[in-house]
Amino acid sequence: MKLNKKLLLCLAVMCLLVFSLQVAFAAESPNNNLPNIKILATGGTIAGAGATSTTTVGYTAAVTAVDKLIANVPELKNVANVSGEQVFQIASESITMDNWLTLAKRVNVLLAQDDVDGIVITHGTDTLEETAYFLDLVVKSNKPVVLVGSMRPGTAMSADGPLNLYRAVILAGTKEAAGKGVMIMMNDTINAAREVTKTITDRVDTFQAPIIGALGVFTGDKPVFYRQSLRKNTTTSDFDITNLTTLPRVDIVYGYAGNAGTMIDAAVHADAKGIVHAGVGDGSIAAAEYPSIEKALKSGVVFVRSSRVGSGIIARNGEANDDKYGFISSDNLNAQKARILLMLALTKTTDVNEIQQMFYEY
Ligand code: SIN
Repeated sequence: MKLNKKLLLCLAVMCLLVFSLQVAFAAESPNNNLPNIKILATGGTIAGAGATSTTTVGYTAAVTAVDKLIANVPELKNVANVSGEQVFQIASESITMDNWLTLAKRVNVLLAQDDVDGIVITHGTDTLEETAYFLDLVVKSNKPVVLVGSMRPGTAMSADGPLNLYRAVILAGTKEAAGKGVMIMMNDTINAAREVTKTITDRVDTFQAPIIGALGVFTGDKPVFYRQSLRKNTTTSDFDITNLTTLPRVDIVYGYAGNAGTMIDAAVHADAKGIVHAGVGDGSIAAAEYPSIEKALKSGVVFVRSSRVGSGIIARNGEANDDKYGFISSDNLNAQKARILLMLALTKTTDVNEIQQMFYEY
């Protein structure tokens, strides 16, 4: 009788063990019907925390680790097999060109794997558009790459991060998102990396693509595309960072009333190989800046005219004699994006005609 009891107890314990193993296995084994999405975390407000639920300014960015970000959105497991990697943990104003190279190389390695269908990158919103455009030019895959951030920290009432992350993962796993270049998913809106910019310091609808508009929007959990960017990116881009360990220095000089050449002189002194001039209006340059610009050009600096306005085309030979000076028009790239294209262009050539052509193609 005693032996039977012991046997029964043993059997019960074994059953419990087998059951727990099955549950654990089911929880961790991938669902073959869902896409495999890698979440690369870099920090930002989406990983931020504030003192109270009403703290939406003065919080600390980049404190929540990727595993916690994923665990905070359990619904992710219904739409993808997600796994996370903490690439950096920084506020995006401090991102460096080294960080860009590290991130881009990791993205290219992951996208070359058959078991990765798409990538989501969590990132601070302040320089989100810059990292996105850099990746747009150097990622070597048609698989979806989606950058996502939030304007409110995860601890805030109505935090926008969890839903943004959830939708970014859906987008990265959507077949229609392939071949659209690198995208930004924020506030139910899908934008192309080349065209989008942060337009408002503190609102969840901050990301806009002036004049051109979004690629698409979310309706419920479904992304709907309306158009596609025509400029070269990802698999049609000729830029290759595989063997790069640094990028050429390019500085941005801001235009304002009473401008002289002081900042241009400083950039040349700091050994800049290129300068992007965020001029007033249609990329206008003050007369007092020209002596410094001519010195810069003589020392081999490549000079791109963009605008502080933030949208619109810089008409070549419009507000400056570009042909005479050998200036390059940024087309409709804002200054921070023109800087990225110029840095990559300078890894290939210093010929201003070739670089101008790149600004028309990328
Ligand atoms: C950051 O860019 O890291 C801080 C601000 C933000 O993510 O909105």
